[in-house]
Amino acid sequence: MVVGKPFLTVEQIHGKVKELADVISDEYEGKNLLAVGILKGAFIFFSDIVRLIRTPLVVDFLIASSYVKSDSCGEVKMHYDIREDVSDKDVLLIDDIVDTGITLNYLRERVLMKAPRSLRICAFLDKADRRQVAVPLDYVGFRIPNEFVVGYGLDFDNKFRNLPYISIFKKTA
Ligand code: IMP
Ligand code: MG
Repeated sequence: MVVGKPFLTVEQIHGKVKELADVISDEYEGKNLLAVGILKGAFIFFSDIVRLIRTPLVVDFLIASSYVKSDSCGEVKMHYDIREDVSDKDVLLIDDIVDTGITLNYLRERVLMKAPRSLRICAFLDKADRRQVAVPLDYVGFRIPNEFVVGYGLDFDNKFRNLPYISIFKKTA
């Protein structure tokens, strides 16, 4: 297993997080923001971006899994659901990466059934070429090619989440 040099450096990552946070801060001024981190993958991105958003907000989490090793198994399992009342909230789902779109589409529909005041999605990485289910993304950090990436919260087999940068992961025989 090989983790290569940075594909996105710490500086590129932090510059982009600040950019996204600035746009979100402006667009959510005067709203009732509930920032929902989708765990585990988004835990670092989520904690970075919420600290840069200048509007008041409440946080909650969703824990879901749909991945076995590096291949999506296409089935979403829920481990923790939002506890906050969303009926008066402007919900912003914050995810690490959108690949097939299956997970986020499932979570989006699940949240919509609870009738939030509004619902938007922020994803740090978008592997658009891999999409199987269309999901509307309101804020995207980087569009990346079809490569498996690790670091900055993203894992392979639950490892490498603590790398401060994002790297392309290559499996050796
Ligand atoms: P989707 O349902 O196929 O869109 O998969 C979404 C989830 O799979 C993401 O939230 C990640 O947790 C995981 N995932 C997808 N692509 C990658 C990758 O390149 N590296 C690490 N995790 C990934
Ligand atoms: Mg995820």
